[in-house]
Amino acid sequence: MNVEDQGAGPLISVSELRKVFPAPRGTKGEDVVAVDGVSFELLPDECLAIVGESGSGKTTVARMIVGLETVTSGTVTVDGQDRSRPPKRLRDRRARAREVQYVFQDPYSSLNGRQRIGDVILGNLRLHAAEGDRGGLRARAQEILDAVGLPQRFFDRLPRELSGGQRQRVAIARALAADPKVIVLDEAVAALDVSIQAQILNLLADIKAQRRISYLFISHDLAVVNQISDRMIVMENGLVVDRGVTAELLANPTHPYTRALRAAVPGPGWKPVRRERLAS
Ligand SMILES: Nc1ncnc2c1ncn2[C@@H]1O[C@H](COP(=O)(O)OP(=O)(O)OP(=O)(O)O)[C@@H](O)[C@H]1O
Ligand SMILES: [Mg+2]
Repeated sequence: MNVEDQGAGPLISVSELRKVFPAPRGTKGEDVVAVDGVSFELLPDECLAIVGESGSGKTTVARMIVGLETVTSGTVTVDGQDRSRPPKRLRDRRARAREVQYVFQDPYSSLNGRQRIGDVILGNLRLHAAEGDRGGLRARAQEILDAVGLPQRFFDRLPRELSGGQRQRVAIARALAADPKVIVLDEAVAALDVSIQAQILNLLADIKAQRRISYLFISHDLAVVNQISDRMIVMENGLVVDRGVTAELLANPTHPYTRALRAAVPGPGWKPVRRERLAS
């Protein structure tokens, strides 16, 4: 990424974002207001967490930001460009896909079972590499594999030959191949054991420090959020009910919903996670 073209303004800005899922036609069901007027900004070099219980609208917000879901009303701006409506031209759609990459909870379902790991990374490199910048893609794929802590022998492996943590490293590698400004991590460590979770969180922190990438980190796990995020917003029923600097908000939650969420986390004194090497 060209660092110079990154202004001082927010990377992502959402304003009064709403999403209504209409009731299926011919049913007596009611429309679902999944997101009901959400506003926030993601700043350069920041990790912003979105927390809230199941069904509060976290994923729907993220899907609107990346264009996987249409916006009912409100605006989404990414790096100063209005992204509230899907771009019509393929080139613009690609540019949009490139700037914000999405890592899902379950990499198994988001990886093609027949595609080798190297090809997963190469695929995204090819899709997003600038014209005239296509030489040396294999070397770059290997460099990315290395950056996510996977040995080179994984290049020719299939997803089913990997552990859950290793697959999530591949999902992160695929995102990095697009050279994004932002990575949305939607419950990206929720399915992993605590020790593997810690490794992936350390990896994410390293990547963020090395490549100027911001994270939108969606989670219901406040211990994880406490460890990785700078600021957080708390959602309930499609609304932002609390927001602030993560450490302050969690140390002294004033909003009843944040307090309730905080109370659901075991004990005081979350231990800082020690760096562990990948057991491969
Ligand atoms: N495609 C859809 N059609 C209809 N309703 C939907 C659709 N997607 C989400 N919803 C509804 O929108 C609301 C918000 O869902 P969303 O997936 O954004 O919540 P979430 O905070 O990500 O929850 P979780 O923590 O369980 O992932 C829920 O009531 C959900 O049932
Ligand atoms: Mg979700």
